[in-house]
Amino acid sequence: MCGIVGCILNKDNAVQFILEGLRRLEYRGYDSVGLAVIIDNNVLVVKDTCSIEQLSSRVDGFKAVVGIGHTRWATHGRPSRKNAHPHVDCKGEIALVHNGIIENFEGIRKQLAFRHNFLSETDTEVIAHLIEENIERGGNFFKSFTYSIALLEGSYAIASIYRLEPDTILCAKKESPLIIGISDKGTFCASDPLALKGFVNELYSLRDGEIAVLKPGKVEVYRLVNRNVVLRVKPKKISLVSFLGQEDLKRSDGTATLEEIREIPYALQKSLIYREEELDPIASCLIRSGRIHIVACGTSYHAGLIGKYYLTKLTSLNTITYVASEFTYWANIDKKDTVIAISQSGETADVISAIKYAKKLGAKIISMVNVPSSTIDRLSDYTLYINAGPEIGVAATKSYVNQLSIELQLATKVSIELGYEDSYIYNEVVNSIRECAKLSSEIIAKYTPLIVKLAKSISSKNSVYFLGTGLHLPTALEGALKLKELSYIHAEGYPAGESKHGPIALVEKGFPVMISSSYLEARDRILSSIEEMRARDAWIIAVSNDDKVLSKADVNIPMPKSNHLVTPMMFIIPWQLLAYFTSKSKGLNPDKPRNLAKSVTVK
Ligand code: M6R
Repeated sequence: MCGIVGCILNKDNAVQFILEGLRRLEYRGYDSVGLAVIIDNNVLVVKDTCSIEQLSSRVDGFKAVVGIGHTRWATHGRPSRKNAHPHVDCKGEIALVHNGIIENFEGIRKQLAFRHNFLSETDTEVIAHLIEENIERGGNFFKSFTYSIALLEGSYAIASIYRLEPDTILCAKKESPLIIGISDKGTFCASDPLALKGFVNELYSLRDGEIAVLKPGKVEVYRLVNRNVVLRVKPKKISLVSFLGQEDLKRSDGTATLEEIREIPYALQKSLIYREEELDPIASCLIRSGRIHIVACGTSYHAGLIGKYYLTKLTSLNTITYVASEFTYWANIDKKDTVIAISQSGETADVISAIKYAKKLGAKIISMVNVPSSTIDRLSDYTLYINAGPEIGVAATKSYVNQLSIELQLATKVSIELGYEDSYIYNEVVNSIRECAKLSSEIIAKYTPLIVKLAKSISSKNSVYFLGTGLHLPTALEGALKLKELSYIHAEGYPAGESKHGPIALVEKGFPVMISSSYLEARDRILSSIEEMRARDAWIIAVSNDDKVLSKADVNIPMPKSNHLVTPMMFIIPWQLLAYFTSKSKGLNPDKPRNLAKSVTVK
């Protein structure tokens, strides 16, 4: 995770650019923040565990043309001032920011420790000292940098500046994203294109093993062959399409998540961007496949479970869904297989690893991402954009609903191609999703006051269960994840039938049990689960369109009776609102839950 940014500008407003870039990258981590600029031939570093606004007040009046910045999600070393980036060498002449993990840092640190003074507990700091060591041995900045990079194992996106070469930023990339941009304003690097929106008119992505030399008005890219050999290569241009639809970013002041939930009706409308025939090549790819492996993490994994349900029920294609980090241990891949990678950010490291693994074995890759030109988009044979618009809150909300919409459209298309459904069904499904957008808006308006009250009661609880079955098991899992990450209350989602196999042991008077159910599926199982819980005096809260289920609940949130397959797009909304208002009721910031980041770019 972590976000990095760097610039060489024509004017001396590098600090303003870096601060703006960091605000846009904050979704990648916010444990600490820092920047380094060159002023009067000195490297100045300002960093802390503060907010970007607090950092901004400390660098007010700094005039620099060159600088680098970093917003951190801690991997090695707790969040603290000394562990914040940029890191420097012993003389404070080299400053460096890094996203990724240096796996062999302990060995390097041991070797350098007798001559170098380490100030932090991070893996990153060794890189600054390595470059220093190589400069002391007579190398220039570029040579010392490439020689040092060649020694690193692990993943990295790095940007570095050096006091004695004040018009240069050196960058290196392996497995962590890094893009370069140029315009008449200057030369730039960043973790993602959004950070450069409005600043550049040409964008390049660095490939693994590449090193970029940024100078005023130009960029050179080299491929690292070994310690001593670098070959100049043509930089890989990427489209500025990444900026399309990216409205001005909201600040994460605690309202982004709520706004994003409220945007669900609009986002759902925008998920209907594909005409049926545009899905032809992807549907054919799936039909030709042996097995279909869906890989994703977190909320996208829950969307992947629903994707499996759709594909299995509508097409009977052989589909399995994996948590991406488990994929290589469990999956059996054949070159006839297809992987569907689902990721809001398109940058999740575990998903990227799974894709690379499957590609090596000859599988085709279809991705569903929200961010065009992201790494996952670029690695895929086919991409479906979920088109939810920028999602800034760390909790995935509208992107989840749009993932479901795209999955349903695709599964319907495949079932038509296979002859299981008539072609008019496609329009019926599109109309159900449109209807669902309208109903979502009513759900948000109607139930917000009730959920605000409910959240107050939930905020004093220590533990909550979310139960579902069939199509609504993922609703239960996702409801639990939302509550856990936003309110820090222990929450567990599981199949309703499992209570009696263990979890019910915790249930006592007042224990909150959240039910997600649709009248068209598993009614008896849900009803008996509710009875089991009621017999132990649990407090039952139901999101359902089944009158009988609702009548058994202490708090009921009635849902519309619509096409069963679109119900997960609506039934999740009360749980998202509950998580948001519980967080607010505990005085937390729902946009930036502790220990988390929006984009998880480390394995
Ligand atoms: O960007 P991705 O969809 O690949 O992210 C996957 C997870 O990191 C993400 O869904 C995470 O679980 C969210 N914080 C959930 O709200």
